[in-house]
Amino acid sequence: MDIRHEPTGRGDRARIHISGLERDLRILHLTDSHMTEVDDRDPEAVPYSQSRGPGLFFKHTPNGESTREVFDRTLSEARELGVDAGVLTGDIIDFPAWAGIEHVELGMKALGAPTLFTPGNHDWHFQHLAWSDAVRQEYYPRLHRLTGGTPACQSMELGGVRLIALDNSTYQISLEQLTFLRRELATGQPCLLFIHIPIWIESLAPAVLRSWGAPIMMASPHGWTAEKREHWQVVGSDPSTLATYELLMRGESKNLAGIFCGHVHFEHTDAYREERVQYVSEAGFSGGYRIIDLLK
Ligand SMILES: [Fe+2]
Repeated sequence: MDIRHEPTGRGDRARIHISGLERDLRILHLTDSHMTEVDDRDPEAVPYSQSRGPGLFFKHTPNGESTREVFDRTLSEARELGVDAGVLTGDIIDFPAWAGIEHVELGMKALGAPTLFTPGNHDWHFQHLAWSDAVRQEYYPRLHRLTGGTPACQSMELGGVRLIALDNSTYQISLEQLTFLRRELATGQPCLLFIHIPIWIESLAPAVLRSWGAPIMMASPHGWTAEKREHWQVVGSDPSTLATYELLMRGESKNLAGIFCGHVHFEHTDAYREERVQYVSEAGFSGGYRIIDLLK
């Protein structure tokens, strides 16, 4: 299978030529909208949401819009561009209030195309609670209406291409997820992988460290100190995480055309192995999204 990434010179596009494709396909990739929707079903989240202001998350949204307005506009632009599918890769909501979850669900339906949603670290965490496995387990069920009840591993077939979504919002890939990924790749079909947290690649690391002060990527071999691990609640990489990294970087995964992710809020495109590219997309709250064109 011949796969070639065509440089576009644009951070909001990806053009991938895949030999043997049945037809051209267009996919929306949206990440990190950080919507702060809340209502009286989640009263403990109201003060935090108000402190954020309607359009503020780390920096102002375009034209002073609310994060919800930016999310809605992105989906309507994608609909106008005509997409065959949409994949949301986490932190679409800033915390798992019911109002936010319902708004994401409405947006996914309004796209008018099949969608996948894989969680980020914010989708399951309220600001007034500690980052912990217990909190994650408590709030995951709220996301089931977005993930179809299987947040860890999801996939969709689209015109002969497999879209694979794995939840790596704890910086880990479990053995079960690795097995799932291997099974998907074993179909021999062209695949795209969607995850929240980028995998470590050398060219991405300096900008991540500059922006965040810590190497907040999956399987990062450098840059963590005990203090930073404590602050970010990131432990070392599990054996299954490292095995996944090895599979992607050097293993039997050549039919994986590319990786699409977010988390760090800026755009970055670079190869993680020869002719296989990781696309980090700009945060949705600042108007970012990516249109992926798969071309036969
Ligand atoms: Fe994130």
